[in-house]
Amino acid sequence: MNDPATIRRLYGRRQGHKLRQGQAALVEELLPRIEVPADGPIDAVTLFGDDRPLELEIGFGAGEHLAGQAAMRPDTGFIGCEPFLNGVVGALGHVRDGALDNVRLHMGDALEVIERLPDASLDRLYLLHPDPWRKARHAKRRMVNHGPLDAIAAKLKPGAEFRLGTDDPTYCRWSMMVMNQRRDFRWLAESAADFLTRPDDWPETRYERKARRQGHEVWYFRYLRV
Ligand SMILES: C[S@@+](CC[C@H](N)C(=O)[O-])C[C@H]1O[C@@H](n2cnc3c(N)ncnc32)[C@H](O)[C@@H]1O
Repeated sequence: MNDPATIRRLYGRRQGHKLRQGQAALVEELLPRIEVPADGPIDAVTLFGDDRPLELEIGFGAGEHLAGQAAMRPDTGFIGCEPFLNGVVGALGHVRDGALDNVRLHMGDALEVIERLPDASLDRLYLLHPDPWRKARHAKRRMVNHGPLDAIAAKLKPGAEFRLGTDDPTYCRWSMMVMNQRRDFRWLAESAADFLTRPDDWPETRYERKARRQGHEVWYFRYLRV
């Protein structure tokens, strides 16, 4: 089994261009109100005050998908994790503009949050366009590895869904191989259309639009936690 700690180092940038005044205000004022508490166990009651269904997105980028899901299902609680400050600012803008009160954010490694959740507490988990780490020697950094997947599997309820999207052919093949080795997930595709067509309840992100514009195929994987 791979060590979940292989992913424990955050690779890549945490901050890009300097924040504008309005963006800095979002970080100073809105973020503290909707941030996942810094430590201790977390569940729907801690985060939202009731026992609502709970979903989590790993690496939400600029937050379009997270906000889209949250707007569609106001009675579900959403936890978004993203270490990149400019991405967090994007998500904060969506939360403010959509008056979304069912979103909580963690600016950092998703695995830090996942490990603090009770087992079998998540109704769905999203991993959309994870960093591909194309070189073979970097493959251990990929989120789709047995270490992180063990942690994810433990936190999903039986019957919950794991959604994985990628436009990277290497990551696509890698994920199919790794997921195929697992007995705790069942691929929900019955025909090619099921993974080549974006489901209606899978909001598109800017990243995905750009990938399509560049002529990339996008694959939409849905796995059932058995
Ligand atoms: C290629 S981007 C895709 C962003 C978004 N999911 C989308 O589809 O638009 C990958 C994102 O994963 C984030 N990321 C990488 N490692 C992460 C980790 N351990 N926990 C949470 N997010 C992570 C990166 O900061 C980056 O924003």
